[in-house]
Amino acid sequence: MQVYDVVVLGAGAAGMMCAFEAGRRGKRVLLLDHGDRVGRKILISGGGRCNFTNIHAKAENFLSENPHFAKSALAGFTPAEFVALVEKHGIKYHEKTLGQLFCDDSARQIVAMLEKECAEAGVVTRCGVSVGAVRTHVSEARHGAPTFVVETSTGSFECGAVVVATGGLSIPKMGATAFGYELAKQFGHNVIEPRAGLVPLVFGVKDHERWCDLAGVAFDVVARAEMQTQRMLRGAKVPNFKERLLITHRGVSGPAVLQASSYWRPGGTVVFDVAPGQEVLRPLQARSSGRDWDALYAALRGVLPQRMAERWVRARADAGAGDWTNAGLEQMERELHAWAVKPDGSEGFVKAEVTVGGVDTNELDARTMESKRVPGLYFIGEVVDVTGWLGGYNFQWAWASGVAAGRALGHGE
Ligand code: FDA
Repeated sequence: MQVYDVVVLGAGAAGMMCAFEAGRRGKRVLLLDHGDRVGRKILISGGGRCNFTNIHAKAENFLSENPHFAKSALAGFTPAEFVALVEKHGIKYHEKTLGQLFCDDSARQIVAMLEKECAEAGVVTRCGVSVGAVRTHVSEARHGAPTFVVETSTGSFECGAVVVATGGLSIPKMGATAFGYELAKQFGHNVIEPRAGLVPLVFGVKDHERWCDLAGVAFDVVARAEMQTQRMLRGAKVPNFKERLLITHRGVSGPAVLQASSYWRPGGTVVFDVAPGQEVLRPLQARSSGRDWDALYAALRGVLPQRMAERWVRARADAGAGDWTNAGLEQMERELHAWAVKPDGSEGFVKAEVTVGGVDTNELDARTMESKRVPGLYFIGEVVDVTGWLGGYNFQWAWASGVAAGRALGHGE
């Protein structure tokens, strides 16, 4: 049996970061992945340019049953520190919007950077390895200290610590598995039910018939998922997202919808303000005549694409609207700022960018990511119940939680 100090399961963003942080501190680290190469999600991220961080990342930009959990790790490794690493490797980058940093050239540069750091830190990386059982035992090689044995398709490894960095369930064809959740449960951890996040939403039959032939139409909205119970967020606020909405063949997508989807639960409603910050019908109210469907359409054309404006007018007419009094206009104005949609579902893990939920943070140490139940067992990255907004936040969590564990593993070196 080969002996290592640390075995990291999953060579994605979090696993690679953790591996070289521990390796740098003198630990013998083995990094395993069942895929044919490391960092596959990084390669497809940000449209191939990897939105590798967000300069505004704070704990408020993450969902978790415990909204405070991410604070310590995020403070311990900031976006500026990741940017310094990127600059050290000469990777050119730019801010696209809202603090989102992307490579100028290619996401491949981020993977190459992490591979180089791992190699320099002496990390042994093995791809194409299936991981089987992970168990604890009392080691003779370690003078009776409790250790782990990791059984794989290329033999068994003994180690003092196991880091679970196997990610979430999104994009199964990229190698996503429930392995991390199963391992957590095996060691007595609670797992907050994983569900698809940053995912397009699917309309029911009526809304589908009403809107989906407009697929491709996009406009700015403020989106907000109405939570069914406040307990779901443990007192944290449900944010408003002012970004673009895109109508699709199945429902809605676009950044505003993806953001709201992470807060949406089956049976819940998503509310869109389709004319954020504008009083669209004020010109109609200001006049006593010429209040009719044509005037409504003209006013809507100021804020919505033509096809959406036409459809909105028709939907209002079909719903029996047409009260042109001031009260009626005020009601129509309110509807523009609160278009409530009850999606039938989401496009699921096949299309989701992230997994919401995961290993319950109550049983993890927020500074080190170590299990409070099983010393030497760590969970980092997306497998943990910490999920970022769209815009570089999820990678920042992967880096920061990976560094927190890597430093803790190398403690004293
Ligand atoms: P990650 O999924 O990266 O890595 C897990 C690794 O574990 C994988 O290599 C997998 O093969 C391996 N593994 C799984 N099961 C295993 C098993 N049983 N045995 C061995 N290995 C196993 N975020 C962001 O901040 N900016 C962005 O631009 C994007 N863009 C983006 C695009 C798309 C299409 C997706 C799907 C996702 C994003 N994300 C993103 C999200 C981001 O990719 C994600 O949050 C991080 O990759 C999570 O990092 P982890 O290391 O935790 O998991």
